[in-house]
Amino acid sequence: MKILVVGSGGREHALSWRIAQSQDVQTVFVAPGNGGTANDTRICNLEITDVNALADFAQSEGIHLTVVGPEAPLAAGIVDIFRARNLRIFGPTRLAAQLESSKDFAKAFMERHAIPTAAYQTFTDAALAHDYVNQRGAPIVIKADGLAAGKGVVVAMSLDEAHEAIDMMLLDNKMGAAGARVVIEDFLPGEEASFIVVCDGKNALPLASSQDHKRLLDNDQGPNTGGMGAYSPAPVVTPEVHARVMREVIYPTLNGMIKDGLPYTGFLYAGLMVSPDGSIKVLEFNCRMGDPETQPIMMRLKSDLVELLDYAVDGKADQFEPQWDHRVALGVVMAAANYPDTPRKGDVIFTDAPAAEDAKVFHAGTELKDGQLLTSGGRVLCVTALGNSVKAAQRRAYEVLEHTRFDGAQYRTDIGHLAINRKN
Ligand code: AMP
Ligand code: GLY
Repeated sequence: MKILVVGSGGREHALSWRIAQSQDVQTVFVAPGNGGTANDTRICNLEITDVNALADFAQSEGIHLTVVGPEAPLAAGIVDIFRARNLRIFGPTRLAAQLESSKDFAKAFMERHAIPTAAYQTFTDAALAHDYVNQRGAPIVIKADGLAAGKGVVVAMSLDEAHEAIDMMLLDNKMGAAGARVVIEDFLPGEEASFIVVCDGKNALPLASSQDHKRLLDNDQGPNTGGMGAYSPAPVVTPEVHARVMREVIYPTLNGMIKDGLPYTGFLYAGLMVSPDGSIKVLEFNCRMGDPETQPIMMRLKSDLVELLDYAVDGKADQFEPQWDHRVALGVVMAAANYPDTPRKGDVIFTDAPAAEDAKVFHAGTELKDGQLLTSGGRVLCVTALGNSVKAAQRRAYEVLEHTRFDGAQYRTDIGHLAINRKN
């Protein structure tokens, strides 16, 4: 059978790599893919980005299933278009994807269905927003309502920072339409975790837990990024926390979406804050898998991914029991010079990492040009490895990373630090 994966990042490389190992799969088409998917066995890049042209392709090629990686095509309604043509696709509809594409939608939804999240208000008027932060005090969090590629959130530690963020979004329009409306919410202390489930509209199948590293620099310093590294499982998600998330967040979300007439299908990513007493609050929903969380999660998935997704598309997500590698997987992102502001493109990537069972270099912003591998985006590679502990997986990932270089490469040297320090 043939599978189509939509997207071009590290997440899509990891998904297509795992799908290519599914028993019945001949070819995985990745649209548009990257320099890594161009090189992998049974994976084929497809230079199509237009959603209707993708549906034409799926129809004419007899694609068994289309899996959508990023939020933009989901928010643009790719699932609605494919379904209208009776094409099998895994993802939420355009309206259901509002859980990610509008922070205000997500907050109002959580309030309506009593899903735990920080207290908030939404503003389009800067003066009212300034009054609100003065009244709530700092620290406080200012979020652009719309999609902003991980750059729409300012965690303001002081009132000055909060006022500046409000002006940046509402007065100076620095985030464009995405920032024309802002959600302002209370700051939540605790440890973050990424909790991703596969949804069929009614049921949820939880994937392995993971933790991202959002800041650019070691010790969680520097600007927010799309994610500089991740590992799975996340020890902060204890069995108790896991049960609580399913009971307080995941099932209320699925049931709420049904009540609101928007049954949720596809990957649902709950970004959680776990407080020291074990209580949980939702920081955000994403209507897709995380990047780079997908890379370690796929590294650990032993079950056939197409079979798993088929269960979900057929409305039986709760009947599949995924098998996981007992080892920890940890991925370190190598980003381009000047990431996250204006990443430089066109640097030559040298790598002589030998193929290994316990490591894989997933590509994101890379392209093959005249036989040469070049950087072509902000996050370039995610070097992912397995180990019997977080420390061992970390050691192995950095060992493999030593075999890869390009000018201006930026990476953190402490991926996994919270889990490692927790154990000490
Ligand atoms: P979001 O895109 O909403 O997940 O926000 C990006 C990052 O900002 C999160 O991963 C957190 O590190 C931080 N953040 C968001 N909301 C809050 C909050 N209410 N309290 C503390 N940190 C937050
Ligand atoms: N790594 C965070 C995200 O994918 O949104």
